[in-house]
Amino acid sequence: MKTLCTLAVLGLLTFMATPALAIQTAPAEFLEMENPYDPEDVDRKFLKKAGKIYKRKCKKCHGTEGDGQGSAAADIEKPKPTSFIEPGYMEGKQDGQLFWITRDGSPKTEMNAFGPGSEVNLSEDEIWRVITFMRSAFTR
Ligand code: HEC
Repeated sequence: MKTLCTLAVLGLLTFMATPALAIQTAPAEFLEMENPYDPEDVDRKFLKKAGKIYKRKCKKCHGTEGDGQGSAAADIEKPKPTSFIEPGYMEGKQDGQLFWITRDGSPKTEMNAFGPGSEVNLSEDEIWRVITFMRSAFTR
């Protein structure tokens, strides 16, 4: 009986320690992708235009500052909109991962697909542009 209890407690602890809804990792063919734009080598006009896509389509959840505190964030159950300004977050994400989630969404979350054919229907080029903006604006 005692062993059973210990096992049950251990099982529960393991269950609680497992992150419930970790974001999925993009398939290899996406992870290999490279952003056609270099965030350090685009001009202000480029960033301004790309920033507009972010403001119109991403800001209400991910926030003006990229902190995940947009106006719609409070009403979203877990998982909350990702904060892009956690130290190391942007650095730790490959271009292809950001591209894949933006294009295809994160299933069963508020992170919808934004790519071609979706409701918002961003082109793949627009997705790279918005990623370039994010890389340039959210640098922590
Ligand atoms: C309606 C709210 C909402 C909007 C609008 C939104 N997102 Fe998200 N986003 C989320 C949520 C919620 C998550 C967390 C999903 C998860 O943890 O599975 C997320 C996660 C992400 C991630 C994390 C990917 C990773 O691997 O860590 C990226 C990148 C992202 N969003 C980009 C965007 C971009 C770019 C836009 C605009 C084109 C956008 N999002 C618009 C809610 C939103």
